[in-house]
Amino acid sequence: QDVRLWGGRFADGPAEALAKLSASVHFDWRLAPYDIAGSRAHARVLRKAGLLTEDELASMLEGLDRLEADVASGAFTGTVADEDVHTALERGLLERLGPELGGKLRAGRSRNDQVATLFRMYLRDHARIIGGLIADLQEALVGLAEAHPDVAMPGRTHLQHAQPVLFAHHVLAHVQALSRDAERLRQWDERTAVSPYGSGALAGSSLGLDPEAVAADLGFEHGSAANSIDGTAARDFVAEFAFITAMIGVDLSRIAEEVIIWNTKEFSFVTLHDAFSTGSSIMPQKKNPDIAELARGKSGRLIGNLTGLLATLKALPLAYNRDLQEDKEPVFDSCDQLEVLLPAFTGMMATLTVHRERLEELAPAGFSLATDVAEWLVKQGVPFRVAHEVAGACVKECEARGIELDELTDEQFAAISPHLTPEVRSVLHVHGAIASRSGRGGTAPSAVAVQLQEVKGDLEVQ
Ligand code: ARG
Repeated sequence: QDVRLWGGRFADGPAEALAKLSASVHFDWRLAPYDIAGSRAHARVLRKAGLLTEDELASMLEGLDRLEADVASGAFTGTVADEDVHTALERGLLERLGPELGGKLRAGRSRNDQVATLFRMYLRDHARIIGGLIADLQEALVGLAEAHPDVAMPGRTHLQHAQPVLFAHHVLAHVQALSRDAERLRQWDERTAVSPYGSGALAGSSLGLDPEAVAADLGFEHGSAANSIDGTAARDFVAEFAFITAMIGVDLSRIAEEVIIWNTKEFSFVTLHDAFSTGSSIMPQKKNPDIAELARGKSGRLIGNLTGLLATLKALPLAYNRDLQEDKEPVFDSCDQLEVLLPAFTGMMATLTVHRERLEELAPAGFSLATDVAEWLVKQGVPFRVAHEVAGACVKECEARGIELDELTDEQFAAISPHLTPEVRSVLHVHGAIASRSGRGGTAPSAVAVQLQEVKGDLEVQ
């Protein structure tokens, strides 16, 4: 039996080489449940348009139920001879209902509007799954922040000691980035809640079908496509999804890189749980941060999926072109990678041991309180230009003597500048410096507590 949906005008079947090239069933099979849902909705509008009788609709829906059960159990699968998932499922329906009834379902629809619709449905489901996994990671990070509310650490710019910050503040910075990723997924979903079903191959249908009814049936909150050409040809929803998943990968890679550095002997800020680290086949002592490294590596792959897809879409004329079959594997891969990465990453972060003494010890190192000296001088009425110079001179003096700022004597301070009275020592404490940055978004415990409450509130509604 010729399973092709388009054999009529051809004298011969396709060359084997073409069939091999053309086949997508090995990767688009995951759209099967969505294809069947689409078929049910389509059968109902065929009935509405008078193209199926009530009995035919009932048999059609019953046949689709059986097909769905067989797909779920694995009793029915696509084969290489089936060009794609749509072809395979039509074969399955024909096998179950016979050619007379089974052959009626295809009226008024094309694989072009089908695939555009099913792909949206699939990605919308996975946007929700990935959003949930991000929320899990955010909760783990919030837990880490809550467990260390008062631990100071060296805040860095250029990877150099800059100013002391609260560890919780640093961790919550990553939570903020992830919140925006989750928000991007929700906003993307809003835009993607439009159904192309009914667009046909590109021009719509002459059969009086009701695309709005199909859209409602399939859960597209914003109805059906306003333009059938755009409905079948648009793939910006795929590119945007690929961007958001790439951005998530990049945000994870930034956490990952820090975990890798923090976990080194030199930093010794954290220790990874045994269950979330790996060993070496030759070096018995090794305990490696593989999850973080895989996150860093996979972010490159996620970026590649985005750029590959954009290159496929570039300069593609309207409407559907077979190039568009290349749109699925990259984002399927992006979903797969994040769905396997995020749970492991969350486990790693949730079980991290933080070495408070080490963080606290290094927080004031590298003259990280020099800004506080300058700002203290400003409060004494010294212009900031001068204050910056004076604080810089203190650092220079310390470097020459191999000491830290709080080790300068009163005499040494006074020799640098008469403004540096012994009272300057009041700001040469890490926790004093941190507590003084109490404005909104600052690193003071009071400000971080406000931030934490906001983040937790957002997570509850997310
Ligand atoms: N499998 C195709 C895709 O993924 C859909 C089929 C459209 N094919 C066609 N010849 N119009 O894009």
